[in-house]
Amino acid sequence: MKNTAKSVGIVGTGACLPERVLTNFDLEKIVETSDEWIRSRTGIEERRITDDKTATSDIATCAARKALEDAGVEPEEIDMIIVATVTPDMAFPSTACIVQSNLGAVNASAFDIEAACTGFLYGISIAEKFILAGGVKTVLVIGADTLSKITNWEDRNTCVLFGDGAGAAVLKEVDEGSGILSVAIGAEGWKGHVLTQPAGGSRMPATVETVKNKKHFIYMDGQEVYKFAVNIMVEATEKVLGNTGMSTGDIDYLIPHQANIRIVKAASKRLKVDMDKVYVNLQKYGNMSAASIPVALDEAVREGKVKKDDVLVLVGFGGGLTWGSCVMKWNKATT
Ligand code: UT7
Repeated sequence: MKNTAKSVGIVGTGACLPERVLTNFDLEKIVETSDEWIRSRTGIEERRITDDKTATSDIATCAARKALEDAGVEPEEIDMIIVATVTPDMAFPSTACIVQSNLGAVNASAFDIEAACTGFLYGISIAEKFILAGGVKTVLVIGADTLSKITNWEDRNTCVLFGDGAGAAVLKEVDEGSGILSVAIGAEGWKGHVLTQPAGGSRMPATVETVKNKKHFIYMDGQEVYKFAVNIMVEATEKVLGNTGMSTGDIDYLIPHQANIRIVKAASKRLKVDMDKVYVNLQKYGNMSAASIPVALDEAVREGKVKKDDVLVLVGFGGGLTWGSCVMKWNKATT
């Protein structure tokens, strides 16, 4: 395959948030918690929750349609659909195949990737490589999760943190020197036990017992994830900047995974990036897993915070444990 593309960038973005809002005050009625605790420990004020009829593919399709419209791309032009999710509609077919069918993207290959909250950055990395290799011109990358479906609403350690949402991006070849300048992904699988959904796979297939023992829900050692998060966000950001000969002083906008304002602030402080250059929307949506970064990117662009030629760093971490980072020169004209 001929290597024709010189540089790959995002040419359109879209987001989809369920309408139902669940506030901290609503949670006070469900578990022993308080708005004060949640705000001060996480920065989250409310989150969006899907209704019983809505699955991950529904919000993924909605975000994808917006990204295609923004990019001016027809479904038939898509060569590849990548959905990053840990809450697929079902084990198979993949959520990407369901989205393909919803969109009528008849010329696309379609597959899911599972890298939890880092999934969108894994998707960006894969998309970039395929386009650079030639043969694939247009890739749709979606980060979509409905963590509310696997949340134990009796566990205050986890249920206050998460929300549902989907974000999408269309990637194509762009002018040389713009778009993605460097992308890095990695994992520390030996730490995976600190964030799991134990049952429902081949290790612990679903039984009456697994359901009774709440093994289909999220289990998390919050403090261990926290420690990993701050360190890896700093390392991952420095890594991609280093690959391009830039430093944190060159960052116009930092778009981090939206898990906890304390994590975001601690990492930004260590990176010496002022908080007014950091995009934060976790107060509205909580941690939306794979959707957090693409939704934040879409909002930052639509709010006019990101301008053409700005240097953006996208950085995240998540279950696996995984991490990812990407530095890009924003290649799209903004209003
Ligand atoms: O995308 C990756 C997903 N995960 C993350 O990013 C999570 C990273 N970790 C965190 O964000 C934080 O560790 C948490 C927000 C999860 C917890 O904050 P923390 O400051 O580490 O609190 P903690 O776990 O040390 O708990 C402090 C206290 C405990 O009570 P005691 O033992 O001190 O009496 C908890 O039982 O707070 C209690 N607690 C709560 N109290 C009220 C835990 N959750 C709640 C709650 N409401 N929702």
